[in-house]
Amino acid sequence: MIRLLRLLCCLCSLCFFLLTMAPAHAAESIFQYNQHLGRGINLGNALDAPKESEWGVTLQADYFRLIKEAGFDHVRLPVRWETHCAGTAPYTIDPAFFERVDWAIAEARRNQLMIVVNMHHHEAFEKDPDGQKERFLAMWRQIAERYREAPPEVAFEIYNEPSKNIDAQKWNDFFGEALKIVRRTNHDRCVVVGPVQWNSIDQLPSLELPADPQLLVTVHYYQPFHFTHQGASWAGPESTKWLGTKWTGSPTEIAAIAADFAKAAAWGEAHHRPIYLGEFGAFSKADIDSRALWTAAVSRQAAARGFSSAYWEFCSGFGAYDPEAKEWRKPLLDALLRRK
Ligand code: GLC
Repeated sequence: MIRLLRLLCCLCSLCFFLLTMAPAHAAESIFQYNQHLGRGINLGNALDAPKESEWGVTLQADYFRLIKEAGFDHVRLPVRWETHCAGTAPYTIDPAFFERVDWAIAEARRNQLMIVVNMHHHEAFEKDPDGQKERFLAMWRQIAERYREAPPEVAFEIYNEPSKNIDAQKWNDFFGEALKIVRRTNHDRCVVVGPVQWNSIDQLPSLELPADPQLLVTVHYYQPFHFTHQGASWAGPESTKWLGTKWTGSPTEIAAIAADFAKAAAWGEAHHRPIYLGEFGAFSKADIDSRALWTAAVSRQAAARGFSSAYWEFCSGFGAYDPEAKEWRKPLLDALLRRK
């Protein structure tokens, strides 16, 4: 009898252990998952540079703690795999680079942050999608295999802002193939996908998705572009002419954001897909008051429609955090985290 009781006790504690160890987001719907993703921030200009540090950002363990303590729910990790991947078959990804990504994922999880790991700036793929297809798929085979045991709080995003020669037809095709590869090893991991033309809301109707229940649809928002990208060298020479553009939060300006987000929300409802605003931000050449007003408006409009979101970005040109002063830029942080 005592033995039986002991056995029962052991079984109970084992069950309890297994239950408490069960990943928090394993069985939930993609809509619940999106709610948990909540508000996040992009760790931009670090692993998406040709080599980390080349664009002035080297990830530090402290960044994850700061982000968690500020009140964010997740980080989005832009990763340029291309410059760390062999140019010929079997297109092996550099093990040292994989270890760096492992470390970033581990730091996010250690700080109870969810994390979206993407593929960013595969320039050869954007130029010659057909020629690079095999390499692109080989990269996803390796990434998916490497993180097959990762907890469900780790999401994959197949490609950031498909553009240039990746048109809608190609993208639907390539995404479908990449997803099949990912699903061989990651049966129900959240996979993020967005439309062509830099994940633009207007291109949502061109996105054709397979019947997979764990897809989260992403869009990016930088409108009005001449405000958010004033003085941004990569936006072309005319961006200097936009310097001085303000954003005041007038009813017309707010209505423009509302109209754009209403389109995204309507598409999401019609296709029964949750929406993730994976990037939005205004470059530091704009004045801080305008940036804070715009950031607050976009962030609130997204939350009001049930979108999760991630600000672009943590500590570089759009930075909500000032790495030299080692402090948050308060107006931006408040704009991002003020609830409702
Ligand atoms: C896109 C680009 C990134 C850029 C950002 C804002 O994510 O990939 O490099 O900084 O948009 O323009």
